[in-house]
Amino acid sequence: MRVAIVGATGAVGQELSGVLAQRGFQADEFRLLASKRSAGKTVDWCGQPTKVHELNAKSLAGIDVAFFSAGAGVSREFAPRALQAGAIVVDNSSAFRMQPDVPLIVPAINADAICDARLLAVPNCSAIILLMPLAPLHRVNPLVRVVVSTYQAVSGAGARAVDELRSQAREVLAGQAARPAVFPEPCAFNVFSHNTPIGPDGLNVEETKMIAESRKILGHPQLRMAPTCMRVPVVRAHLESVTAEFSWPITAEQAREILTSAACIRVVDDASTNRFPTSLLASGQDDVLVGRIRRDASDPRGHTLQFICAGDQLRIGAALTAVQIGELALQRATGSTGAEVSEVGRIGRGRMCHP
Ligand SMILES: NC(=O)c1ccc[n+]([C@@H]2O[C@H](COP(=O)([O-])OP(=O)(O)OC[C@H]3O[C@@H](n4cnc5c(N)ncnc54)[C@H](OP(=O)(O)O)[C@@H]3O)[C@@H](O)[C@H]2O)c1
Repeated sequence: MRVAIVGATGAVGQELSGVLAQRGFQADEFRLLASKRSAGKTVDWCGQPTKVHELNAKSLAGIDVAFFSAGAGVSREFAPRALQAGAIVVDNSSAFRMQPDVPLIVPAINADAICDARLLAVPNCSAIILLMPLAPLHRVNPLVRVVVSTYQAVSGAGARAVDELRSQAREVLAGQAARPAVFPEPCAFNVFSHNTPIGPDGLNVEETKMIAESRKILGHPQLRMAPTCMRVPVVRAHLESVTAEFSWPITAEQAREILTSAACIRVVDDASTNRFPTSLLASGQDDVLVGRIRRDASDPRGHTLQFICAGDQLRIGAALTAVQIGELALQRATGSTGAEVSEVGRIGRGRMCHP
């Protein structure tokens, strides 16, 4: 098995190394690819020093699986070449997500949609974290409307954004002015609207993705959604505040029971100690944390719940989900068992996120 990692030096690429190692993903070769800037560098890959090569027209020859996380432009240019070379492609970018013939997969929600596709898209990270708790509730009591505000970590904008937060925090604490480069606003000690362009409807690109992708994944084109996406000065793990209206009355207790037995969800909801999901608690975790589950007091019919959820967008929002999709697609393509693909083989419809 030969595996290409396109964007191996980036924030998601580096997270893929940890996830593949942790899951015991078996490969004869990991071919690390990035831009010209990184060609010749050596990075730690699954515990081995491994050389990075420049991505070019020949890089993807002989590859069985290619994980793309180098932006939509790179995916648009090189994913078709990988497919042509016979590879399964798992793409973390937005390039193909809304193409009707490309499955948009959250393994705990719609693994069956993989079918025999060889090009598979990983959804937007904020959409994944939102849908992990919404999908099991929606299965029991169909969703009507979702209002969500996100508190998104800077690593969602890549490795350079993390460097910017760290260096800016040091500068500001030393009494110097913040000098934004990756973001349009200072990111240290600041909260600002998501740094994607605003469309004529007043929504930014991140909000538009959340709506379109949630509808596609849930197979619910009529779902009414109103997201507001924000950046907060947090290194990793997005937190979201959710108001969800359902078709029938639902209580916080019912929701807590459903979520407690749902895959890849951890309920952190201890009102007596004020212990609820935080970005730090979610960092490095594979589960999405859910808490503050309560009835929306503004809906007298009792159809609406409010909660917060937090998830590590580099793991469940990107690398972990990509690897799970790759494992499932390989199983379907080769007829192998999960254990043959991943030694730790947590494949299937059960709790895939826990060791
Ligand atoms: N960060 C997240 O939380 C997150 C979550 C979900 C999805 N995503 C998606 O994942 C993708 C990568 O995001 P990231 O945060 O990892 O970004 P990043 O930290 O900026 O990394 C980008 C990677 O792409 C490589 N690259 C850039 N231009 C290239 C080119 N022309 N040819 C080959 N490689 C090139 C970079 O190589 P160099 O190091 O050589 O520049 C680097 O390895 C994006 O599509 C993003 O939307 C990110």
